[in-house]
Amino acid sequence: MPLPKAELHLHIEGTLEPELAFALAARNGITLPYADTDELRKAYEFADLQSFLNLYYGLMAVLRTEDDFADLADAYLARAAAQGVRHAEIFFDPQAHLARGVGIGTVVEGLGRALDRWGSPRSSEAESGGEAAHGISTQLIMCFLRDESAGSALETLEAAKPYLAPHGPIVGVGLDSAEVGHPPAKFREVYEAAAALGLRRVAHAGEEGPPAYITEALDVLGVERIDHGLRCMEDPELVARLVRDQVPLTLCPLSNVRLRAVDVLADHPLPAMLDAGLLCTVNSDDPAYFGGYAGDNFDAVREALGLAPERLRELARNSFTASFLEHDEERRARYLAEVEAYEFGA
Ligand code: HPA
Ligand code: ZN
Repeated sequence: MPLPKAELHLHIEGTLEPELAFALAARNGITLPYADTDELRKAYEFADLQSFLNLYYGLMAVLRTEDDFADLADAYLARAAAQGVRHAEIFFDPQAHLARGVGIGTVVEGLGRALDRWGSPRSSEAESGGEAAHGISTQLIMCFLRDESAGSALETLEAAKPYLAPHGPIVGVGLDSAEVGHPPAKFREVYEAAAALGLRRVAHAGEEGPPAYITEALDVLGVERIDHGLRCMEDPELVARLVRDQVPLTLCPLSNVRLRAVDVLADHPLPAMLDAGLLCTVNSDDPAYFGGYAGDNFDAVREALGLAPERLRELARNSFTASFLEHDEERRARYLAEVEAYEFGA
């Protein structure tokens, strides 16, 4: 049985496996510029964040209907459940779909169908002791594309209003896409508007961008978690602040290797970050592109970094501590109790 965990940094578009991409392309009459899944997989040689993003946005062309988004989320949740994910806060990129004529309603209604289906335990699986015996609690976080304008982000927030918590599934806003040259302060106004609507706030910062972007995301955007945040380690004062305030960092180790933030996993600063007292979590980012889902990331850091079982338990505990579960503390307590009771195999 896998270690129970929450996934807090997961782009649903980044769960599009080559097989599903081809199936959706066929269903929608779209011709992909790759002969087959092998050729597509061979294109996953990334030099940096931008080279990944070019492919990632291109492949999204196959996502057109509510059914497509439902199938995408269903496939992710099945894999996540099998790897011990009990709770997932899922990013999506409304602007990337709107640019192709796919409205936010199509995206949210489609995703929502799958999220609802997985919201409670599957009794048939539970009875047979199957891997997907557990349901998954979920929330959506809409990300603004930081290389688009602040005005476009404001329009996107406006369009999302029918789907916001507490009546809809969107609980928060995030910031993703090309980081360098697009500092957080560009989005001050839309984050203020999001806060006024009662939304939670997170932002990618310190993945390729400098540590100053992390400070700016905290001070100007008022974010409650930092996505990635790896480069905080270059600024001891910032580390001290993140430790003092226990600001969660949603690290994505396999992503960092594939996008060349670190050369090899053995060089990843995760152990030093934990030793420093940072509230680190381990997540998959874009698992179809980076070589693994949440449990695969846990396995990879255990092997490459020699993390002891209690370190893995700490990471799992952190994932629930950092979750936006304030509306359901009983659920959080249940998940945390599961983490404490977990017995590691030999
Ligand atoms: N960084 C920035 N934007 C993204 C990422 C990422 O890791 N994944 C999907 N969009
Ligand atoms: Zn990300």
